[in-house]
Amino acid sequence: MSQSTYRTPKGTHDVLPEEQRYMTYIKKAVRHRARQAGYQRIDTPIFERRDIFERGIGEHTDIVEKELFIVSAKKQDESDDTELALRPEFTAGVCRSYIEHAMDQLPQPVELYSIGQLFRHDRPQKGRYRQFHQFNFEIIGIKDPSLDAQLIQVMVRIFNDLKILKRLNLQINNIGLPENRQAYVEALKEFFIGKERNLPELDRARLATNPLRLLDSKEEDTQILIKSAPQLEQFLDNESKEYHATVLEYLQELGIAYQENPRLVRGLDYYTQTVFEFWDESTGAQNAVGGGGRYDGLIELLGGKPTPGIGFAGGMERIIWHMKEAGVEAPHKDQVDVFVAQLGPEAKKQCLTLISRLRDKGVHTIGALGEASLKSQLRHADRFGAKYTLLLGQMEVKEGTTIMRDMAAGKQKQIKFDDAVETVTQLLVEKNLDTYSLKDALGDVDED
Ligand code: HAM
Repeated sequence: MSQSTYRTPKGTHDVLPEEQRYMTYIKKAVRHRARQAGYQRIDTPIFERRDIFERGIGEHTDIVEKELFIVSAKKQDESDDTELALRPEFTAGVCRSYIEHAMDQLPQPVELYSIGQLFRHDRPQKGRYRQFHQFNFEIIGIKDPSLDAQLIQVMVRIFNDLKILKRLNLQINNIGLPENRQAYVEALKEFFIGKERNLPELDRARLATNPLRLLDSKEEDTQILIKSAPQLEQFLDNESKEYHATVLEYLQELGIAYQENPRLVRGLDYYTQTVFEFWDESTGAQNAVGGGGRYDGLIELLGGKPTPGIGFAGGMERIIWHMKEAGVEAPHKDQVDVFVAQLGPEAKKQCLTLISRLRDKGVHTIGALGEASLKSQLRHADRFGAKYTLLLGQMEVKEGTTIMRDMAAGKQKQIKFDDAVETVTQLLVEKNLDTYSLKDALGDVDED
């Protein structure tokens, strides 16, 4: 690392080319599974009115209380005074969009997915950033336990595609309806009367603002107390209990392993009934790679008609960490097929044409167009892992030839300059070295 004064801001990171390979691979798996299951892509703005998040996610959640990035800009005129915030998650924005574009008029449910950056002004630590990436799925408009199970199945498929499913553990719970939770919160507060002093400071504050969060507190003292506290399960209505049992039955039908966790509550207030998270099998909750749940009251809260919804988001940085830990390589298309080396001004000129003709054929080609010696150009070709090198010196230019070197075999031969493109292309196809580029050079553009 160089000693420059400028660094990425705290909690952010550059996605360097090596990391991009993983990002691209994850996006591919996500798009593939999304299309298979009928989800369509939606991109909402990176910033929204801050009250969309405040109302949706909940005023007493960590995300809203501590982690919102408020956007300030110079006012152009008086109508410019809405306060904006960078999105800390996708769901509230997607629901805002569902209402704004009257998506209730479309065939229901509306199934949408997104991929992109989110911002939370959290304390940075391993796997916790201030700018990070998620892929996000939402099913809006119809409520049925089979949709909960199918959504979870899409996530399972993606984790399986990325070869990290075995490292994860699906935790699932049903947190009931808001009125169930209200009654439970009262009981919990009553239980803690006289016991507050035994709670760590953070949890004492939570007891006042968001008591449910005590259930998944990481503090040992709180966990011990919670064991003898009333259980949320006892406060659930029959519909929620039945709904939960049916979701579990469908998961079994689909062969999806899960662990019931009556203390799973999640950190966003909009959830109702089904909630779930994928935990790291070895470390547990701290580094969930994804989570989601049902939010049947959110659209109404944001000004729409009562509309059910369920969704999920996966944290891409954490997924990449798991892939690397598991030794999963991300297949990529950044290989160099041909390196073109040259000596002398005339050769350089001809190389420009040669390179562009090869590229037009879909062959990944780079060329050394500087003044380096032939030896150092060949070293370069090696470092790039080029399969073939085409060499063009003054002699070759005069003779209308080029030297073609097979880098792996270390053998070379002279061929006609005019045949070079055809010969190399043929060889790449014959040796099956070309996995895709010649076949669909233009058709296979990576989407963002
Ligand atoms: P969430 O649990 O807040 O849910 O975030 C989902 C995932 O995003 C987490 O499990 C984690 O992998 C990743 N993540 C969250 N915060 C950070 C961070 N600071 N740094 C790195 N990764 C992070 C939601 O966001 C909900 N909107 C999911 C949802 C969609 N529920 C319904 N629909």
